[in-house]
Amino acid sequence: MDILELIQKRYTAKKYNSDKAIPQEKIDALKEILRLTPSSINIQPWKFTFVQDPEMKTKLASVSKHNTEKVNQAKLLIVFSVADDLDAFQKVVDNELPEARRDWYNQIRASTPEADLKVWLAKQVYIALGVGLTASVALGLDSSPMEGIEADKYAAILNMTAYKPLFAMAVGYASEDDFNRIEVMPKSRRSLENVIESI
Ligand SMILES: Cc1cc2nc3c(=O)[nH]c(=O)nc-3n(C[C@H](O)[C@H](O)[C@H](O)COP(=O)(O)O)c2cc1C
Repeated sequence: MDILELIQKRYTAKKYNSDKAIPQEKIDALKEILRLTPSSINIQPWKFTFVQDPEMKTKLASVSKHNTEKVNQAKLLIVFSVADDLDAFQKVVDNELPEARRDWYNQIRASTPEADLKVWLAKQVYIALGVGLTASVALGLDSSPMEGIEADKYAAILNMTAYKPLFAMAVGYASEDDFNRIEVMPKSRRSLENVIESI
């Protein structure tokens, strides 16, 4: 299947088959794919938490607003978090990034109000969501992006302090009777003419 067909086929799964396991090599591929996500100045201000443990998934499901059922049913939940403690993240920058990027980040940090810096860091994490959604369908998996989570409670359950959860992605195999299946619910988007300008 070519990339256009894959994108036409991808949709947000609303109901999962909770019996069908995801092959470990596909989970490993998703880990590596997310790691390879591009970001501005290659800053990589993220943490991707892969949750397969059923007990932990149940806890997170209970603070996932209208997404509780999806989180419970899907075999994998990936929590996308952004660096929130900027002093802790400075250590990451100092220890893990090459000097040129470090100097660049330090300049940005010195000249940007903290709130704006945090918005900019969070934007980078959303790039990984696009990569993750596309990678999932390419791997033959269904997925659901979810901003509908109680981020503070996710942080407490995951014992996170330096990073802050932004959103999550359920991954697995959609149920046969998922009402949102692409065959049942055709893609709904604004028209090409209204969103693309060609000059
Ligand atoms: C950042 C983001 C957050 C979303 N949050 C939720 C969510 O919490 N629950 C949900 O069921 N769908 C969620 N969606 C799915 C969107 O509603 C969906 O992508 C959109 O309606 C287009 O449909 P499609 O993904 O099936 O093509 C989210 C999508 C994005 C990109």
